Amino acid sequence: MTTWLENAWYVAGWDSEVDSQPLARTICGVPMMFYRKMDRSVVAMRDACPHRLLPLSMGLREGDSIRCRYHGLKLGPDGVAEEMPIKTDPVNTRICAETFAVHERHRFVWVWIGEKDKADPALIPDLWPCSSDGWRFDGGYYPIASDYRLAIDNLMDLTHETYVHTGSIGQPELMEAPIETWVDGDKVFVTRWMPGVDAPPFWAGAMRQGGKVDRWQICEFLLPSAVIIDVGIAPLGAGATVEKHDQGVRGFVIDVMTPETEDTHHYFWGMARNFDIDDDGFTARFKTQQGGVFLQDKEVLEAQQKAIESNPHMKLMAYNIDEGGTRARQIISRKIKANQAEAAK
Ligand code: FES
Ligand SMILES: [Fe+2]
Repeated sequence: MTTWLENAWYVAGWDSEVDSQPLARTICGVPMMFYRKMDRSVVAMRDACPHRLLPLSMGLREGDSIRCRYHGLKLGPDGVAEEMPIKTDPVNTRICAETFAVHERHRFVWVWIGEKDKADPALIPDLWPCSSDGWRFDGGYYPIASDYRLAIDNLMDLTHETYVHTGSIGQPELMEAPIETWVDGDKVFVTRWMPGVDAPPFWAGAMRQGGKVDRWQICEFLLPSAVIIDVGIAPLGAGATVEKHDQGVRGFVIDVMTPETEDTHHYFWGMARNFDIDDDGFTARFKTQQGGVFLQDKEVLEAQQKAIESNPHMKLMAYNIDEGGTRARQIISRKIKANQAEAAK
């Protein structure tokens, strides 16, 4: 049994990463390569030539096709052979590389893992702040040598900020506010609502106003493996509530974890914000700063993965701070089992 859900969309890359030259990336254990056709739509193909399995990502682009760099087999964007290694040989169109359903949305290229006929773009996780008017979104990518679920645990647990991110986003008052966790269908929320606190410097700068504010951090887990964190402040008395809080400045920390193997994953991170959206300098500075914070998580997750492997007799324990991650893992397992039961029918 895999640790990830099949029949789901996973982020394969940023829209800016996929271009005319092939990008090789293993997604959920499948070596794939991605490139853009001349009409800019994206092709996703198994990264192995049907002949002697040389990675097709090493091949040469010709029009919308790819020619293997070993013996020159040419495949169309649908994976079907167009030209044999000896050009005068008749083309055998049964020679075919596997292709995958792919879709661009919210600044990411998504690939469907599982049964291709079930690949409905309506099932792409709704990362609306990444592609809505009035919002600005940017971010980066880290490969992380850990089970993707450790990253979900990390992001659904707001208490780690104090120790992992000392000197950056960790603040003592965060520890004082109560945390609430709840499940809504396939979603999990972890909420920290902080009414009437002093505006922290970053957010005061964003709102151009200091003083007392209502502050929030709301983590939301979305299948198959995303966590978005709604963060921000509103002036005290402006009527912000947990449900509705557009009175001040607001951002979403975007985290999408795509399994690469059972113990490594691709981490796509960023921030979508509704203030200073035309300020390119701010966007770049914030990205650098956020990248630094997430490197601290990468270090912890990779060390944790190694410790898990070195101590096979020990189990991960769940304290009450782990409830968000535990609930998210339960939903993933439940969905995996449901998928398998359906496939067995
Ligand atoms: S390995 Fe690709 S053509 Fe031979
Ligand atoms: Fe963190």
